Amino acid sequence: MDPLKEWLYEAKSAVVFTGAGMSTESGLPDFRSQSGLWQGKDPMQLASTQAMRNHREAFIDFYRKRIEGLLACEPHAGHECLAALEQAGKVKGIITQNVDGFHHRAGSKKVAQLHGTLETVHCTRCEQVYPSARYLQQDGTICSCTGFLRPSVVLFGEALPAMALEQAQEWSDQADLFVVLGSSLTVSPANWFPQRAKEGGARLVIVNQEPTPLDAWADLVISDKRIGAVLTEVCQQI
Ligand code: APR
Repeated sequence: MDPLKEWLYEAKSAVVFTGAGMSTESGLPDFRSQSGLWQGKDPMQLASTQAMRNHREAFIDFYRKRIEGLLACEPHAGHECLAALEQAGKVKGIITQNVDGFHHRAGSKKVAQLHGTLETVHCTRCEQVYPSARYLQQDGTICSCTGFLRPSVVLFGEALPAMALEQAQEWSDQADLFVVLGSSLTVSPANWFPQRAKEGGARLVIVNQEPTPLDAWADLVISDKRIGAVLTEVCQQI
């Protein structure tokens, strides 16, 4: 068995940390690779509280396009494998930066969504929540109370949800194996968790097609395979 399978097999408290690279094989773009959403764009102009206030048309257009993409895609075998590993008691929880909801849709129950979700939009005035498909309708950005509807994601400039942070902290502190899947590990505070787990004595595995700032800290870096293949192999053995 290769080390990842062995370590997953031995682990008493394995935690998985996912980024946008987990969902590219479902057809969703990531952010910072060659074909990523931020190529040639400034995230602050599109995905920040300031953009929502001062560049509202561009903000709405950006999120309408992302919601359209999300509704056309679905979880892949790798997401299902992680749900099976949770079922088998091999994965304690998933800390995800992703807002696609694919871990839940694939059957994972223990998921800390650090950056919120694009599955819903909510009213900035009365906080009413709607499925995000509403955003694609005529006048779909206006609530029944006439307030402005925004995606339920964490925008740049906003705090991360306290409960998700606490859950991520607890899992990272208890982890004896911390597996990063498809993240450039360039955005804080999300990228603190792999470091926190490593400092707490966990083995750190990074599966990512491009180098990350934490590779030197990792006990194992897998960059020659796509995440789907890595997880399918792991799932066959466990
Ligand atoms: N297999 C392995 N690695 C992959 C695959 C794949 N199939 N697809 C993409 N990758 C790698 C890319 O090479 C890239 O290094 O996944 C990484 C994804 O990194 P980012 O695009 O930076 O995404 P992420 O780390 O999730 O970004 C964090 O930034 O803009 C914010 O809120 C946004 O949650 C996001 C956060």
